[in-house]
Amino acid sequence: MRLSLRFIIPLLIVLAAFAYAVLPLVDNLTVRWFVRDLEIRASLIANTVQDPIRSLFRSGDHAGIRQVLMGIAQDERVYGVAYCPSSEATPIAAGTLPSPGRCADLESLSDPEGHIVTSPQGPLLVSVHPLGSLEVPDGNLILVHDMSFVSRRSQETRLYLFYLFVGLGVTVSLLTVIIAQLSWRGWVQGMRALLRGEGLLRPVNQRAAPEFQPLASDLRELIRDIESGRRPRNEDHLTWSPEALRTVLTHELRGQQVIVVSNREPYIHMRGRDGIEVRRPASGLVTALEPIMRTCSGTWIAHGSGSADRDVVDQHNRIGVPPDAPSYQLRRVWLTEEEEAGHYYGFSNEGLWPLCHIAHVRPTFRTADWEQYVHVNRIFARAVVEESQSNDPIVLVQDYHFALLPRMIRDALPNATIVTFWHIPWPNPEAFAICPWREQLLDGLLGSSILGFHTQFHCNNFVDTVDRQLEARVDRETFTVSYRSALTSVKRYPISIEWPPPAHLVEKSVAQCRADVRRRHGLPEDHTVGVGVDRFDYTKGIEERLRAVERLLELQPQWVGRFTFIQIAAPTRASIEEYDHYQLRVHALVDRVNARFGHARYPPIILLSDHHEPVSVYEYYRAAEVCVVSSLHDGMNLVAKEFVAARDDDRGVLVLSQFTGAARELPEAIIVNPYDADECAAALQAALEMPDREQRARMRLMRSLIGEFNVFRWAGRMLIDAAGMRRRSRLLDRLVTRDFPRGSQPPVDGLQ
Ligand code: G6P
Repeated sequence: MRLSLRFIIPLLIVLAAFAYAVLPLVDNLTVRWFVRDLEIRASLIANTVQDPIRSLFRSGDHAGIRQVLMGIAQDERVYGVAYCPSSEATPIAAGTLPSPGRCADLESLSDPEGHIVTSPQGPLLVSVHPLGSLEVPDGNLILVHDMSFVSRRSQETRLYLFYLFVGLGVTVSLLTVIIAQLSWRGWVQGMRALLRGEGLLRPVNQRAAPEFQPLASDLRELIRDIESGRRPRNEDHLTWSPEALRTVLTHELRGQQVIVVSNREPYIHMRGRDGIEVRRPASGLVTALEPIMRTCSGTWIAHGSGSADRDVVDQHNRIGVPPDAPSYQLRRVWLTEEEEAGHYYGFSNEGLWPLCHIAHVRPTFRTADWEQYVHVNRIFARAVVEESQSNDPIVLVQDYHFALLPRMIRDALPNATIVTFWHIPWPNPEAFAICPWREQLLDGLLGSSILGFHTQFHCNNFVDTVDRQLEARVDRETFTVSYRSALTSVKRYPISIEWPPPAHLVEKSVAQCRADVRRRHGLPEDHTVGVGVDRFDYTKGIEERLRAVERLLELQPQWVGRFTFIQIAAPTRASIEEYDHYQLRVHALVDRVNARFGHARYPPIILLSDHHEPVSVYEYYRAAEVCVVSSLHDGMNLVAKEFVAARDDDRGVLVLSQFTGAARELPEAIIVNPYDADECAAALQAALEMPDREQRARMRLMRSLIGEFNVFRWAGRMLIDAAGMRRRSRLLDRLVTRDFPRGSQPPVDGLQ
């Protein structure tokens, strides 16, 4: 409501009350008071003069009576006075009488109720006072008072009262305006809390307004209606493809700019012998996000880590990628060696990586690394602001390298929609508590609008950790965290891969892949091959897997010389001591096992510790009888899904660690505990002997699941949720800005 209305309406109400209720009441009361006073006065006069009048009348001295009456008529308010010995007599009078006829006519003008008579002389009060006693009456004394002074007094009173009421009205109006402003603010805040989904939970230091309680469910219902009206119908039955994702972007997000931030870049330019080469890094994160960015055509901000990266960018450090058909911008951020050492190798990979993976490697936390971590997060926050074309971009923050980034972006771009995805596991609260900067990390992440994990288990661990470490409100029904008066939705979004897989990765036939791989490694055509594809990382359980191969050969010697396990291990994080040691241990293990079965014609294990481009990796997937994923702990593990995607012949068996996120989605794999070498050896044996029919049945189920839950759905669901949040935020903005124009109200704090 407009401010002026809030002022005028109460004022009008007060004045109307004055005109229609107060004035008549005041007039009435004034007249009654004066009439009562005059009656008393008249009685006093009658009592005082009754004896002289009676004796004068008895002595027949009418002139004496008139003399007495004239004394009374001197009073300015007495209009006239008369003595009536009887009703039939003529009054003996002084002053002016309204009816100078018979006494009866005069007496009839009096009203026992004290009503005023309107006469040509003006308003008069005629009062009759009997003289004598009841037993011996002696006529009546009739007093006629001029009542015109009453209306004069009454007008003065009206004027004073009018001023009083105008003053009162103005005061009431001002109070109404002030109270309305204050309570509207309270309502708005309450509404905002409801819209943010905080419902009726109480802030730590605030009590929930009880008047909102009945409103809460209605409001939520309304929001749900608005949302469902806009949500694509039967989202679950949508076939998720690049086109479907594009539709989400165009319709749900109105083509809004999408910015991705990750440490690892999707294309690395390296100086090679034949000039500049482009490499695709071994990273599940990159595998998943690259097709999304090709579809969204946004900007991907990442660390430029290749030796020729600087040579190919423009003056804004940008380059269009993919190199053969650019469809989005890669913005490279440069880091010094010192920054990279502290941020990437130090805090991210010696601290957070082992902290979050239960792989029995102790995290190392150094203050200098932490400082670089904060510093590099700030560098990336600046890059996000530079790349942002509006004040409310959609920013997809990736992984543990950037736990502080969401808060930094939120501070710089309060209206941004920040979707953070944590690609690795989140440990339980006790494990996380050992990090000296645990609170800062949680505070940073809670700058996100949405925080995603692969599994519900990791979402649970996260909210438990927040509950334990921060003064925040956790709503386990909606899985939201309310912190620093903003809301973060914690959700499960199981990541996946592009489906169908890019044609060039599966264009070589399975038979050709089998033949080429065997020929390359000097194996006979009918040789049975197992494959493992990983970064050379201690969390991947490569040692455990190779011990399982050794155990298989021990228990099932018929496979010696007939089965070879080819392990592709992409070099990674080489300057970290733990990785060096691990890689040395694996090499030694391979040598030992191969030596142990050195009498066989073909080695049990082939270790390929080089980088392999996706096309080459897919060739191995297609060539193998079995693929083993034995991570000791893994957020999802996309190798498992890639193997399934590669097998369009519906053959091949997947042996999968129970400690991967993928195991929850692919129960048709043979699920194993990688720490149990016997169980893993038995799984290998079962895989190698699995009839074609069973292989086909399992593979088809897994393929149909990945086809349905592909990476476009992963991204689409996050973007749909982000769009929902933006709509709520806009709804809220409208609600708030209608009466509190931008700038005149506290900053919008949650709903982005
Ligand atoms: C994991 C992480 C990714 C990372 C990838 C490769 O999948 O979640 O963030 O990119 O490993 O590791 P690297 O250190 O080479 O980027």
